[in-house]
Amino acid sequence: MAKDINDKKNVAIKAASLVEHDMVVGLGTGSTANYFIEELARRQKEEGLKIVTVASSIVSSRIAQGQGLEVIAIENVTSLDLYVDGADEVTDDMTLLKGRGSDLVREKLLAKASQQFYVLVDNSKLVNRIGEKFPIPIEVMPFAWQLVLQSVEQIGGEGDLRPNASGDGLAVTSHGSLVLDMSFDDDIDGHMLNHQLNAIPGVVEHGIFANLATSIFIGANGQIDQRKKLAD
Ligand code: A5P
Repeated sequence: MAKDINDKKNVAIKAASLVEHDMVVGLGTGSTANYFIEELARRQKEEGLKIVTVASSIVSSRIAQGQGLEVIAIENVTSLDLYVDGADEVTDDMTLLKGRGSDLVREKLLAKASQQFYVLVDNSKLVNRIGEKFPIPIEVMPFAWQLVLQSVEQIGGEGDLRPNASGDGLAVTSHGSLVLDMSFDDDIDGHMLNHQLNAIPGVVEHGIFANLATSIFIGANGQIDQRKKLAD
């Protein structure tokens, strides 16, 4: 019987192999990031790898601490060597859609503060345009949600507040924001939308990550393809 191929795990192990002693490493959120955390913990235990980590969510912080990694608070960090996370969509020009796990502002802070940002995906995440498979998550201040919704509708968005997992309330981020999930027409330009959303008051952060990833590791059928950002 053919051995099961786990492309998410493969890319996570590859990225973890590139982590070096004394690095400050940002940990993402999601199933792929969890494989990365697991492999970092293995390297620490078996190879004596010395690192400190910063988590993008309470979930990844708990997983990392549970596996013996040192996790420092985001407020104590001024820069990171490497941030490693998954994504929900990736376009040819390395623009990402993130945020199914809600904590967008933490994810974008780590991506922006890091010297390198490795994105780990399998090839199911490759898309022609941002918003092709998922709505765009927009993290909003709770009291601003109606006004933000109205502003996003004016630029062509349709959607509503994200429900919580049990469907009997609203999803709330770890620091108390609400999340709008907004869909747009097929012809949206991800870069234009990025700028438009950045300009709306009351938006804490949104899921379009443009010009932040330095490498994308794409797993497909046991192979890994690495795409690198061209120098600015
Ligand atoms: C977390 O908020 C997201 O941005 C994740 O990076 C994304 O949902 C990836 O999840 P998987 O690794 O489970 O596919």
